[in-house]
Amino acid sequence: MTQRLVGKSVLITGGSRGIGAETAEQLGAEGALVAVNYREKKRRADAVVRAIEDDGGRALAIGADITDPAAIDAMLSCVVTEFGALDVLVLNASGGLELGAEPGYAMAINRDAQVALARAAAERMSRGSRVVFLTSHQAHFHGRRPVPAEYEPVAASKRAGEDALRALIPELSSRGIELVVVSGDMIEGTIVVTLLERRNPDAVAARTAHGSLPTIAEFASAVVDAIVEPIAEAGHTVYVGGADYLDE
Ligand SMILES: NC(=O)c1ccc[n+]([C@@H]2O[C@H](COP(=O)([O-])OP(=O)(O)OC[C@H]3O[C@@H](n4cnc5c(N)ncnc54)[C@H](OP(=O)(O)O)[C@@H]3O)[C@@H](O)[C@H]2O)c1
Repeated sequence: MTQRLVGKSVLITGGSRGIGAETAEQLGAEGALVAVNYREKKRRADAVVRAIEDDGGRALAIGADITDPAAIDAMLSCVVTEFGALDVLVLNASGGLELGAEPGYAMAINRDAQVALARAAAERMSRGSRVVFLTSHQAHFHGRRPVPAEYEPVAASKRAGEDALRALIPELSSRGIELVVVSGDMIEGTIVVTLLERRNPDAVAARTAHGSLPTIAEFASAVVDAIVEPIAEAGHTVYVGGADYLDE
């Protein structure tokens, strides 16, 4: 296989599990230098780093709560010091479904932290760099399609995060940085979907009625393609699964 990201420095938030961990490993296989961010699961992040290194790649784990501006700054400085540059920022980490989360937490992580991180990263990125934001169809199409009640605050805040990032396009474009959004249907095998299935099985059944859900590996692969492939315009959206959402 020809590696498509040889020597490129990529920071992925929330790389310690699920889609983030799989994407980090696929990025490592493409030759990228991968900074695997986690919030508290250091051992899981270290295991992702080891998997990349065992495959011949280079990676490091960086603990940082992305809702903490000082932690963001320290993480970005660490990436640039260790890898010499920051070429790609993958905004994967997301939250709001945690039990006992403060009412404003979903907006804090899914909107405010994403914008703060994109802006702080842009300060350190060169022309030709890219920011990739991951979202779900239920968030991307929020307000246009029904959302399970359990997921409503997450969907609203992730849509607000996407809108706020799109509002940054002029600022990013002036620095030669492109924004790409990757939106996926429910992804089979993720903890979020497993939890939703327990709390509201009909919501998951409503999606599987349209066909099988994309896998974590398929979604991660679409994210890697979204990092590599040229885009027609800033803010381009890549859709993964859920073709029925696109029939307007
Ligand atoms: N799940 C789906 O069906 C689906 C569908 C479409 C799109 N997506 C999108 O794909 C992305 C990943 O989803 P997922 O289901 O794989 O997520 P997940 O299983 O909930 O993983 C969350 C990751 O984010 C990290 N994280 C959480 N809060 C953080 C914080 N404050 N600071 C830094 N890291 C934090 C976690 O780190 P720790 O483990 O250290 O806490 C973990 O690595 C999200 O943007 C989501 O919207 C998901």
